[in-house]
Amino acid sequence: MSKSISGFSKLSKSHKIDWIVATYFNNNDNAKNIIKQYWNSNIKLQQLHDEFIENTITNYYLPFGVAPNFLINNKMHAIPMAIEESSVVAAASKAAKFWFERGGFKAEVLSTTKVGQVHFIFHGDFPVLNTFFKTVKSKLIQATQPITKNMEKRGGGILDIELRDKTESIDGYFQLHATFETLDAMGANFINSCLEQFAKTFREEALLYDGFSEKEKDIDVIMSILSNYVPNCLVRAEVSCPVKDLTEDPSINPEEFAKKFIQAVKIAEIEPFRAVTHNKGIMNGIDAVVLATGNDFRAVEAGVHAYASRNGIYSSLTHAKIENDIFYFWIEIPLALGTVGGLTSLHPLVKLALELLHNPTAKELMQIVAVAGLAQNFAALRSLTTTGIQEGHMKMHLMNILNQFEATQEEKNTLIEYFKSHTATHSSVVEAINNLREQ
Ligand code: MEV
Repeated sequence: MSKSISGFSKLSKSHKIDWIVATYFNNNDNAKNIIKQYWNSNIKLQQLHDEFIENTITNYYLPFGVAPNFLINNKMHAIPMAIEESSVVAAASKAAKFWFERGGFKAEVLSTTKVGQVHFIFHGDFPVLNTFFKTVKSKLIQATQPITKNMEKRGGGILDIELRDKTESIDGYFQLHATFETLDAMGANFINSCLEQFAKTFREEALLYDGFSEKEKDIDVIMSILSNYVPNCLVRAEVSCPVKDLTEDPSINPEEFAKKFIQAVKIAEIEPFRAVTHNKGIMNGIDAVVLATGNDFRAVEAGVHAYASRNGIYSSLTHAKIENDIFYFWIEIPLALGTVGGLTSLHPLVKLALELLHNPTAKELMQIVAVAGLAQNFAALRSLTTTGIQEGHMKMHLMNILNQFEATQEEKNTLIEYFKSHTATHSSVVEAINNLREQ
């Protein structure tokens, strides 16, 4: 297994597969069949997917589900979700229905500023550098004109560039810290192109600047890259209702439920071990919509968790309170999303997902995604503080276990019926399958 290969990317798809199957699967036909089983029979569509990345050998499916009945700012939505976890779409749908009957979700975008930085080393003092920066700042912006003109026509572009002194942390380290408005685009390519141009102009101008010594002229650009930390690209989503309306189940007292729910949120606000799981549940909803709409879930994840730690302790992204007998539950998160560019006009399912959402602007998508996160958290906390999470989770997971045991449709029907009135755990399902098969 110590074989290496050069020129792999230049091989045809079928030669790549042959090499993989020969090297890692002992030429086993089964491996080749699995790889090919996931090819799309539509050759053009398959080629589109092949060309998204390098070295594609097949497609990787995730279920694409829909959670209906989301009332957001008085508009109805069926939210597309791409996710493998059994209970997520069901939980979102339940929460949507619950809040639909209580006025729905309210969401608003608080800000849309994105950030990028040129990180560099300067061998001199800050005041000297700052004087230079002030003289070249307008040239930095001017030099990006070919990149920014279309974005500017639509009302976006570069908002500002600041010089930041970071020498307290690293000797000679400074930044050009730039802010951007990228409208309906996520803006990664736009921002990175602007930053690389800033870096180039900054270096060129430094070489010509009379106020610098020879050493100072030699600015060492380390890198130019957008930041996925976007604390000023924020969206807020909220639900509220009178405390007395908070339960559907007559055996659950709404006041007690509200108090317990709020305690659960408070625990996640102060206890990082709980906060991580609490926020993971929120990301179940968020990632699923981000993925279905062709956005970069890794960027969203990184930015959201950084935001959750902004006060020096990793904390809950959601909050809850009771005021004048009204229960309030809300989320505030940074989301840099796009509804144009990237995969949005390229991937047929992404296009369909966006159409399903009435072709939202980036701001509208931010609201929808935040709502999906809040709904998911509501569903999780409601289960956790009442029945416990396993009841609902195992109901949904039951099908996975049945499939693992290759249950027939008849066996599935019998066991689904059986587990409506019995507790499903992995071992109880296995036992029930065995019992059924022994009959
Ligand atoms: C499971 O994917 C998510 C939960 O653990 C979230 C939570 O505990 O709040 C149920």
